[in-house]
Amino acid sequence: MNVIYNAHICSFGNIIIMNILLLGSGGREHALAWKLKQSPHCSKLFIAPGNAGTARCGKNVYLNINDFEALGKFCKEEAVEMMIVGPEEPLVKGIADFFRKDASLASIAVIGPSGEGAQLEGSKSYGKAFMARHHIPTAAYGEFDALNYEEGIKYLQNHSLPIVLKADGLAAGKGVLICKSHVEAYAEFELMIQQNKFGDASKKVVVEEFLDGIELSVFVLTDGKNYVILPEAKDYKRVGEGDTGLNTGGMGAVSPVPFAGPDFMKKVEDQIVKPTIEGIWQENIDFKGFVFIGIIKVGDDPLVIEYNCRMGDPETEVVIPRLKNDLVELFIATWNQQLDTVHIETDIRKACTVMAVSGGYPGEYEKGFEIEGLGQAESEHTLIFHSGTKAFENIVMTNGGRVLCVTSFGSSITEAAERSRAALSYISFEEMYYRKDIGYEFIDQN
Ligand code: AMP
Ligand code: GLY
Repeated sequence: MNVIYNAHICSFGNIIIMNILLLGSGGREHALAWKLKQSPHCSKLFIAPGNAGTARCGKNVYLNINDFEALGKFCKEEAVEMMIVGPEEPLVKGIADFFRKDASLASIAVIGPSGEGAQLEGSKSYGKAFMARHHIPTAAYGEFDALNYEEGIKYLQNHSLPIVLKADGLAAGKGVLICKSHVEAYAEFELMIQQNKFGDASKKVVVEEFLDGIELSVFVLTDGKNYVILPEAKDYKRVGEGDTGLNTGGMGAVSPVPFAGPDFMKKVEDQIVKPTIEGIWQENIDFKGFVFIGIIKVGDDPLVIEYNCRMGDPETEVVIPRLKNDLVELFIATWNQQLDTVHIETDIRKACTVMAVSGGYPGEYEKGFEIEGLGQAESEHTLIFHSGTKAFENIVMTNGGRVLCVTSFGSSITEAAERSRAALSYISFEEMYYRKDIGYEFIDQN
């Protein structure tokens, strides 16, 4: 490993400054770019491919984030010394390994795990077996493919309802089905394994016990040996108010999470975070990046529903604004395997983000509508992070299902949510929709 001491000595003193490349184009990447740019250690910031919001923090570059050769070439040309990988796909495809194995790229601090580490997200079966090896609490499960298909049907027959079916591989967030009857479970199981419902991703299926509880997202930054825990968050995945309707990538988030008090978070750390990082270390998995642990609180106990190898979106848009530490310093400590020297400092204010989406999302929607009112919506309490946007001759236009998210601070979640809604009343684009009830269950609790 190449330790970063003085990547580039700044003329104003003995401070490391470096050129940074950030991969991705969502609200998560805008929030990361916004934070990176505040660091005195950040010289040039490039975002590939970015969006209209990231263009205000650095330079967007039109590179394909799965074209590792092109990314490597760009890093050499622009003397990039740190690359932060936002989404999971390049990680699962082995971007970190590609850089490590090439002598001319190996000194670049890649923030994101190796392909093997990314399997924690890339294969549900790998993640479940890892949890079993390290005695990490999770739902009981079985795994099946074409070879033991009949055994799978028998497993389903004896399973209590509801039954959770998970495509083993990456399925763009759509690979989890919660079946309310056995008939539905048999039909979906058949579609997944025999009819490739999610392509290769569902050739293998994890059948899991349904956990009845409330969810939260816990974010861990690890250097493969040491770790720090970032502020936790709760995501609102359903498109409709009152948590109804179809699943989406996330319609909003809050941080902190009122039901995750210190006693509960201690259980999360002792029973889940520590064994996870010890497992990574013992198994010699090259992992310098984020572990995002999806947790369900059942009674008073935490159980893991999934691992991800990246930050969440829209959780990042509340977690990163509450993080007081310098993000580049955190990443340097991650690369140098010195996270044991770091102490996380969190803004005590509460944060709420509300996602404005295109009409029709998560189904079909149109793009290319002009977005108005962005300037008026920002204030000392409110930040706007772009997701699916692009700029055309100074006009910002919609360019995706999730368009932008509005993050506000407040002394309570209720106040933060009210501020985000007030800010959204200034913003408009054709067929804009957002949930007006993000944080609803925490009214009067904070
Ligand atoms: P995943 O892709 O594993 O995050 O699953 C997507 C969503 O399905 C989660 O956020 C949960 O809401 C739900 N889910 C997944 N596994 C379970 C489970 N075992 N019990 C209950 N809900 C689950
Ligand atoms: N918000 C959930 C995710 O990023 O997977």
